[in-house]
Amino acid sequence: MKAMKKRLFATTCEGEDAFLYTLSNQNGVQADITNYGGAIVNLLLPDRAGKLADVVLGYDTLAGYETDKAYFGGIIGRFANRIAHGRFTLHGVTCTLSRNNGDNSLHGGAIGFNKRLWTAKEISSNGAPALELTYLSPDAEEGYPGNLSARVVYTLTPQNELKIDYSATTDKNTVLNLTNHSYFNLAGQGEGDILGHGVTIHARHFTPVNANLIPTGEIRSVKGTPLDFSRMATIGSRISADDQQLKLAGGYDHNWIPDREGDRALVLAAEVHEPGSGRVLEVFTSQPGVQFYSGNFLDGTIRGKQGNVYQRRYGFCLETQHYPDSPNHPDFPSTELQPGQHYRETTVFRFSAR
Ligand code: BGC
Repeated sequence: MKAMKKRLFATTCEGEDAFLYTLSNQNGVQADITNYGGAIVNLLLPDRAGKLADVVLGYDTLAGYETDKAYFGGIIGRFANRIAHGRFTLHGVTCTLSRNNGDNSLHGGAIGFNKRLWTAKEISSNGAPALELTYLSPDAEEGYPGNLSARVVYTLTPQNELKIDYSATTDKNTVLNLTNHSYFNLAGQGEGDILGHGVTIHARHFTPVNANLIPTGEIRSVKGTPLDFSRMATIGSRISADDQQLKLAGGYDHNWIPDREGDRALVLAAEVHEPGSGRVLEVFTSQPGVQFYSGNFLDGTIRGKQGNVYQRRYGFCLETQHYPDSPNHPDFPSTELQPGQHYRETTVFRFSAR
């Protein structure tokens, strides 16, 4: 195991120090993670010839993350994706959330977990560098009930996997849906759009949305639609197809339901292959859903790392999660967390090249 390096990233607007932690392995894979929002800032991966590139979109400076509106690389909480009208009812109690996406609450509200300074601790598990991040979200933060104690552990394994273990407890009934919001471009950040990446999603169903990108409640088959990625297809091959769901979202921005047998087992939800570099990303998860987002809202207004301007569809996300707006859909897998229960989810990003 190589030692983890730690260096000052910068001081936050509130005057607190944020650090950058470097997790690296013997294959040259390197992840720089900051305890500001838990963001994966850089991710260096070899291509099929061993050449390294940084495959995540992001910023060179902490200030970039403090003003970011695209959620580059960060931990999303308390609730990934949208909650309609910023409102839900739990055991007869109506909770009103901060609304930051029209009438909806998106990715935890105005100041989500991606904008909080987490407490970092270097730990190691099974000989692999690991970074533990903890955050105590106070009762009523952004409208969510309960003091929530959240823990996220990033581990880089010798098999070129970046593993993310999420856990949490609460002291009041609440809802929770944690994810990571990395935007990948396996050719390298800033190296053009992601339309030529090949994608497989091992899911026969998805949750269709309305014009506000809120699930209608239907669980729909992908069969015969451009959302069918059961066989590898490039992102660009059908993205402009005459399909109502693609039109509503301006591309891919939907929650797929990975096929699974057990409730809790890690399953291979998706695979992405970038033909030029040969880099491959496989996503394994314990979660019931994955948001495949093709970066439709990137519009060239963000200047990111090394001066790169991120145009539309310059990155894609695979956000493992519970379904959006679950608290308002009793038929969806429950996102409720009660006192005494232990929230636990795991996602593994496995990287290779061929
Ligand atoms: C959502 C998009 C949203 C993006 C954040 C994704 O998780 O599905 O609709 O625009 O995050 O910018």
